[in-house]
Amino acid sequence: GALRERFPQSPTVGPEQLAELRTLDQIADFVAAAPPGSPGSPAASVGPEAGGVDPKAGEPAGAPRRPVRLVTLPGVDRLDRPYAESPVAVVVHRGDPGVGPILDGLRTRGWTVREADLDAATPGGPAVPTPDDVERALAAAFEGRVDLALTVLTPSADRDRADRDRADWDRSVAVLAENVLVARHAHLSLSATAAAGSRAAFVTLTRLDGGLGHHGTAGAAASLLGGVGGIVKTLAAETPELFCRAVDVAPGLAGDTVAELLDAELHDAARDTGEVGIDAGSVRWTVVPGLFDPLAAADQAVPAPVTLGDAVTPGDAVTDGDAVTDGDAVTDGGAEAVTVGADDVLVVSGGARGVTALCVRALAERAGARFVLLGRSALADEPDWAAGVPDDGLKAAVIARLRAEGTRPTPREVERIYQGLLAQREIRATVAAIAAAGGRAQYVAVDVTDADALGAALGEVRGQVTGVVHGAGVLADALLPAKTAADVARVFAPKLTGLRALLDALDGAPLRHLVLFTSVAGLYGNPGQADYAAANEALCRVAAAMRHDRPDWHVTAIDWGAWDGGMVTPALRELFQARGVELLAPDAGARAFADAFRPDRAGEVCVLVGPGRSLAEPTAAGGPAVRARRPLTPIVDHPVIAAHRIGAHRVLPATFGLGWMINVVERSHPGRRVVEVRDFAVHKGIVFDGASPDGARVEAEPAVPGEAGRLLVRVAVRADGSGRLPVSHYAATFVLAAAEAGPARLGPAVAGWPGYRLGEGPPDALAIYTEGTQFHAPRLQGMRRVLARGGDRLVLECQLDDDQELRAAFGGALHSPVLADVLLQGPPVLGKALLGQACLPLGIGRAEYFHPLPDAAPFVLVLDGARVDAGGGTATVTATACTPDGAVLVRFTDVTVAATPGMAAKFAEAVQAWRQIPTADPTPTDNEELPS
Ligand SMILES: NC(=O)c1ccc[n+]([C@@H]2O[C@H](COP(=O)([O-])OP(=O)(O)OC[C@H]3O[C@@H](n4cnc5c(N)ncnc54)[C@H](OP(=O)(O)O)[C@@H]3O)[C@@H](O)[C@H]2O)c1
Repeated sequence: GALRERFPQSPTVGPEQLAELRTLDQIADFVAAAPPGSPGSPAASVGPEAGGVDPKAGEPAGAPRRPVRLVTLPGVDRLDRPYAESPVAVVVHRGDPGVGPILDGLRTRGWTVREADLDAATPGGPAVPTPDDVERALAAAFEGRVDLALTVLTPSADRDRADRDRADWDRSVAVLAENVLVARHAHLSLSATAAAGSRAAFVTLTRLDGGLGHHGTAGAAASLLGGVGGIVKTLAAETPELFCRAVDVAPGLAGDTVAELLDAELHDAARDTGEVGIDAGSVRWTVVPGLFDPLAAADQAVPAPVTLGDAVTPGDAVTDGDAVTDGDAVTDGGAEAVTVGADDVLVVSGGARGVTALCVRALAERAGARFVLLGRSALADEPDWAAGVPDDGLKAAVIARLRAEGTRPTPREVERIYQGLLAQREIRATVAAIAAAGGRAQYVAVDVTDADALGAALGEVRGQVTGVVHGAGVLADALLPAKTAADVARVFAPKLTGLRALLDALDGAPLRHLVLFTSVAGLYGNPGQADYAAANEALCRVAAAMRHDRPDWHVTAIDWGAWDGGMVTPALRELFQARGVELLAPDAGARAFADAFRPDRAGEVCVLVGPGRSLAEPTAAGGPAVRARRPLTPIVDHPVIAAHRIGAHRVLPATFGLGWMINVVERSHPGRRVVEVRDFAVHKGIVFDGASPDGARVEAEPAVPGEAGRLLVRVAVRADGSGRLPVSHYAATFVLAAAEAGPARLGPAVAGWPGYRLGEGPPDALAIYTEGTQFHAPRLQGMRRVLARGGDRLVLECQLDDDQELRAAFGGALHSPVLADVLLQGPPVLGKALLGQACLPLGIGRAEYFHPLPDAAPFVLVLDGARVDAGGGTATVTATACTPDGAVLVRFTDVTVAATPGMAAKFAEAVQAWRQIPTADPTPTDNEELPS
């Protein structure tokens, strides 16, 4: 009955037969022996050839998946003096000879440094320090005030040894485990410093490959140290008031350069970047998906118009709240061919139970391979008194049995026996299901952390094993202050020691698949799971190293989102649901696992499967005040900025000033996004006229609570002026909402949307850029066609290519500085009509962001609400960007434009410049102040 309930496609079993099927072998034999096409046959109910239903019909929905990858980070927004006066740094390492320049670099920058060399932790001797010695050394190091805990993780000095050297592996695991304890000790001192109002930082330094171990060039054993990112991200999730960052610097860079790079990282305003890799060219990288994830929003495609040009009846087109699927998050669907077949033998740790068992069953359905399932649970034939008793009656049966034996049934003993019986039932059921699916399965009771036992258990099959799936794992959740060395050891053992033991036991086997089960908890960090996050992140880096060293292998680490099953107990499920965390449907997850063996996925080294978001709740509190500098020199020659020349000089577009503030505000409030801007004012545009453009800074006041859990932050971009008062360039108030779990939502539909034909007709709007109304060079010419004009309304078809690098630095989740420029290009068109002169935008009354503007795809810009303001020198226009069927993407209400005398001449000069028409007489007003 249980078999039928759990595996509806298993052979039909009569009650008499069932009574006879006691042992695992009997069940497996029965399933395998049923004749094809018979009611008891595994194939009877599936496949069109068997007269069954089309396997695609009624298929469960696919699981969202996103490859985990490195993306470049913009430069640091350097905070002005975030640390207290005379700050104290504790630097922890293990006899690292390269730490000298780091210590010197800190000291010359004003830090008082306390060094904790754990190799010297043993009193009076060079012996390996015991865990107690380490605890004592850490407790002493973190006593008193601490502003920075810097821990330097070094792999075995003998880096060139073969990566399968057990000693190197064990050392990395020990160093990683030690760093969970470092975080625990640092936590208390740092929290006290943060509570006093200054920055308190927990920073780790590795020298793997400048890509946080994701390039895989450091070798598998050293790469394990990349798992420290899991600790850092968990500390940040548990204690958001701390500044936490894992930094990995390319091994080739000199010590003093590293000290300088580290100093920049220590001062970064961004709090959404748990991990930063710095390559040999000093380019900064981080891992996405993660809290910093410019791609997440940028990749969200705007839905295609329902039907091009189809009219939508005014009044009935309310699309408020339409969800849009994440364009980048491909979903898995059909049952494509996989690269394992009947000749393959896969060893699957943890494969008889939990989610791994579901995965293996799904793979068995696609490939009739042989599976060797490993687990610690012993397996025996079910005792007579339990046979046939349904799961929900089993506890009562245990109690009855104990009483019958004359034993008092204590709750603990009953639970132990009951859980043991359930575990065995699950194992039997898995083996039976694999057989029913056409595979062959064998269960071996062995602890993967016991290298000798494992070697013996796999001795016979070693020569045939072609793949390893490493799913064994356990949890020992506790927040960092309560985390013990024993918890860490328990969690690390199956994941890390277990993998090493598996690879050793299979040394010489014809391996070509290695699939490691890792977790979204590592990708984002998760309160209570510093050790689990570290172990999983370590496995992701090991995957990169294994793939690098064995390019012909299929190596994949699957960062699973939370499943509705396995470790996710009913209590956890409730917690996740309360937080709005979507759970991965077991069918979809299992199918995604089988898909990992598709030939086109062979190169996917690390992939997130499941809803891509942190399991932790976003923090309710706002961040502190921010005062951060950012050099603008790097963008002056960018083609986008070059296309924004007014008169003789390039000018920073106002949407970059706006986006700069959005960028800093979002990145200092991880998990939140700007959904609205109020009173954006351009006080003085930034003109690249030869003077250094690097003096400006963003100044954000501390966030204050707004309505509905939102935060309000007042921000300005200022620079030191020649007088005592600073020069103000831009200012606005920003409304931050918790970043939604799902994809962005479209705004309400524009009332009276008539429907427009897009992509037809000549690009007649381009004349705006050459006839004295606008000045932008082709790279920024987004207004393409006039769709309608009349009354005070102008409707334009727009399209422009975005730029990811600029977006990462001057954008937000929903704001692209390049694409939003098109929204500010429109109002001057109506402004000129009203005021009779060329105009530039001065400000935006209210900006509402619903959904990212589409990159290189058409959208519609509606300009309306135009009026001349009192005084007559300015006009106000509303600019609304919509999908072709009228749903709002972004709306700028009350955009103020000003007519400035002499602007027409500057526009003409700019146009001549991009058209490369030589000018005889350059405009002599080079240094005139420009509003934008
Ligand atoms: N469930 C989720 O939502 C989720 C999310 C992300 C990642 N994952 C990963 O997916 C994997 C499976 O998770 P799950 O939820 O299915 O957990 P689970 O239900 O607790 O199953 C864990 C499996 O690992 C085996 N195992 C544990 N320690 C072992 C050891 N030392 N030697 C041999 N086998 C051992 C267990 O069998 P015995 O108890 O018989 O040893 C069991 O089969 C884990 O690696 C986990 O990190 C799960």
